[in-house]
Amino acid sequence: MGFSVFYFCCKAWQFNKFKFPFFRAFLWGVLAVGSLLFAGFNSSRTSEKTVDKAVYKSFHPGAVWYDTDSVHINAHGGGMLFHEDTYYWFGEHKTAGVSGNTALVGIRCYSSQDLYNWKNEGIAFESADDPESEIVKGAVMERPKVIFNEATKKFVMWFHLELKGQGYSAARTGVAISDKVTGPYEYLRSFRPNAGTWPVDATEKMKAASFSESLEWWTPAWHEAVEQGLFVKRDFETGQMSRDMTLFVDDDGTAYHIHSSEENLTLHISKLSADYTSFTDRWTRIFPGGHNEAPALFKRKGKYYLITSGCTGWAPNAARSFVSDSIWGPWQQLGNPCVGDGAELTFHSQSTFVLPVNGKEDAFIFMADRWKPKNPIDGRYIWLPVEFQGDKPLLKWRDEWDLSVFNAKD
Ligand code: DGJ
Repeated sequence: MGFSVFYFCCKAWQFNKFKFPFFRAFLWGVLAVGSLLFAGFNSSRTSEKTVDKAVYKSFHPGAVWYDTDSVHINAHGGGMLFHEDTYYWFGEHKTAGVSGNTALVGIRCYSSQDLYNWKNEGIAFESADDPESEIVKGAVMERPKVIFNEATKKFVMWFHLELKGQGYSAARTGVAISDKVTGPYEYLRSFRPNAGTWPVDATEKMKAASFSESLEWWTPAWHEAVEQGLFVKRDFETGQMSRDMTLFVDDDGTAYHIHSSEENLTLHISKLSADYTSFTDRWTRIFPGGHNEAPALFKRKGKYYLITSGCTGWAPNAARSFVSDSIWGPWQQLGNPCVGDGAELTFHSQSTFVLPVNGKEDAFIFMADRWKPKNPIDGRYIWLPVEFQGDKPLLKWRDEWDLSVFNAKD
């Protein structure tokens, strides 16, 4: 637009039509206003770009984090894949305003070699335009996680799916695959998992139990019924609810899907099929009635660790941590891993992933989201090193840190 105004003025001058002082002043006015409009138009288009290309040498938890195009990273509820010497960060692309909590664009991917500087690889998995599609724009697609299957050479993405216009009632898990890490991912299906199967450790008592339909929520009798499988039984035929989720691939290549189920009251851990695209009939419940979401699972020195949150929507609460010798349990509660100021609210964030740092011994990064539900695109990332006191993971706030914190353990 600025160029057209300038071009028009030059032409007018060239044709010698406006040589009177009045017209000269008019032309300069048009030129000035045109340039201002052009500058304004350009800056509103690029309002996210407030710094030059950033080259980071450290992490700054909670600050705006620019990608290598100087745009705030847009990959919320994220998960990481380390593949062929590169880290890939997949997350929810959020938009401005409250509607930005739904998937209007899709799942975005970034890549990095050093974990500080991230290149935008574009939308790996697009929301659909087709109103009949389960992943139509406006559905909820949260907490995407991608794993690579060595046998099929496919990248497999699982994510929490809520159908458009149904709030959080669908409680499904969705799966998509790609031949290329950065996508495009092809949507396969969504479902409520483990229909018609009992958890591996279900007792005969649990299978035979029957529950009164008039049990009042949150009463001791209701709590006992939850523990005995009230909701497992309710959803037995149609499949178990699946909301906040993560994936974990064990050293032997077996993959697990970990999700909040039973009205967010109980975590389920399920073994995935050999190609990672479906469930098997092996699953277990952990902490029935414990009200855990935002699960992040990692393995250290042969033990399995879980970091989770409580269930308070977008508002932060105190994190929890657990340890087990086997992924199938029994899991032991270790309490809140956060210490110091802000520990009771997980430093105003909620867990999403724990990343083992490649090439470093005993080095794990806790990744969490500081949600901004009224303007989700402005959500921030809280990354902190996981420290250990014996077997207990500890998270301490740091304004700035870098990977050298792990060097003492090299
Ligand atoms: C908390 C979950 O952890 C988020 O992923 C999201 O589902 C919000 N609840 C929605 O309120």
